[in-house]
Amino acid sequence: MIEQETDHKEPRTKNQPLGTILVTGGAGFIGTNFIRCYLAKHSDCSIVNLDKLTYAGNLENLRDVEADSRYRFVKGDVADRELVSQLFEKEDFDGVVNFAAESHVDRSILDATPFIVTNIGGTQTLLDIACRHWKGASQPRRFVQVSTDEVYGELGETGRFTEESPLAPNSPYSASKASADLLCRAYFKTHGCPVVITRSSNNYGPYQFPEKLIPLMIVKASRNEKLPVYGDGTNVRDWIHVIDHCRAIDHVLQKGIPGEVYNIGGGYEKRNIDIVRLILDRLGKPETLIEYVKDRPGHDYRYALDASKINREMGWSAEYSFKSGIEETVQWYQRNERWVARCLTGEYRSYYAANYHWREAERE
Ligand code: NAD
Ligand code: TYD
Repeated sequence: MIEQETDHKEPRTKNQPLGTILVTGGAGFIGTNFIRCYLAKHSDCSIVNLDKLTYAGNLENLRDVEADSRYRFVKGDVADRELVSQLFEKEDFDGVVNFAAESHVDRSILDATPFIVTNIGGTQTLLDIACRHWKGASQPRRFVQVSTDEVYGELGETGRFTEESPLAPNSPYSASKASADLLCRAYFKTHGCPVVITRSSNNYGPYQFPEKLIPLMIVKASRNEKLPVYGDGTNVRDWIHVIDHCRAIDHVLQKGIPGEVYNIGGGYEKRNIDIVRLILDRLGKPETLIEYVKDRPGHDYRYALDASKINREMGWSAEYSFKSGIEETVQWYQRNERWVARCLTGEYRSYYAANYHWREAERE
């Protein structure tokens, strides 16, 4: 049967951005930065931010854009089929950027269930509804699945992950993200859903919840508290400034080829202990604050990404140097002590006790 064209939108010109986009998880770290960048870059756009406001979601992050008529916030769950369907019916989205996720490896070790429900179930709900709604559309639509280099597993001393590297996740978090990636692939292959997957390396920058390495260490050092380094601190991550990541997602949203995967890496490989020492040095604090604690179970040794595909095909490359990015980030956390204090509430305290107290007690 020939598909009926159901799309009555005006054709977009070459440089026009996608009209109305659904950003999920837009009140979290990367989503917040993406929304702000996107509104600043594209005057002719409209964003609906769907966020459940878990411990990691914070509407305070977007106070400055709240009054912008191009922006609207909806509190809700990406796994809520009825709500997501209603939003698609009402807004007729041209694109989706799916940030919504449980995102912290240590929390996935303590309890994997919310990771499975949101990261897999939520993605499947979004795919189902986008796919159904976009069937027969004449305008190109895009569903950007924001994924991670952690789906590739770990590297030894050498080499970098390419988009062809096999998926070999080692934590419940990365397994849930890899599962979502595979669902995206299947919805493209089976239903022709215009899905594009991005896999980024470790992000840092403003508004990152202070449970991840860099903000945690800045906050701890500023308060003269012990800095808990897992194992011997020699694990390596490939760091990217969040704004560079957001610029790359925008490229992929506008120009990504459905069914393709794009690695987004900053290219700054650092050992954890070197980052911790850099932060201590920058804040003028002694190295005696470092406390080596019991290692993370299943701790991936090293991540490094080959991001030559997105550079070649879209002209994207990281602009921040690690040195200036870290300096700006330290200053942001220093200026936003009250924001930090509000993150460190009751929920954070019980997570912190569950994740760190046994490590300290069982120190090697
Ligand atoms: P984050 O934890 O800071 O934010 C996640 C956001 O999703 C929060 O606002 C939260 O309220 C929302 N959310 C959680 N469950 C939801 C649900 N069921 N429905 C609607 N909203 C929900 O995470 P982040 O660091 O901003 O990461 C965003 C995305 O980028 C994630 O998918 C993550 O896997 C991916 N990623 C992150 C990094 C990194 O270094 N932070 C690197 C690569 C990829
Ligand atoms: P994290 O920020 O949790 O990101 P990911 O696990 O997704 O890479 O951790 C980055 C690295 O820092 C990782 O190797 C674990 C390490 N780490 C510590 O040594 N101590 C800590 O308290 C945390 C949160 C992380």
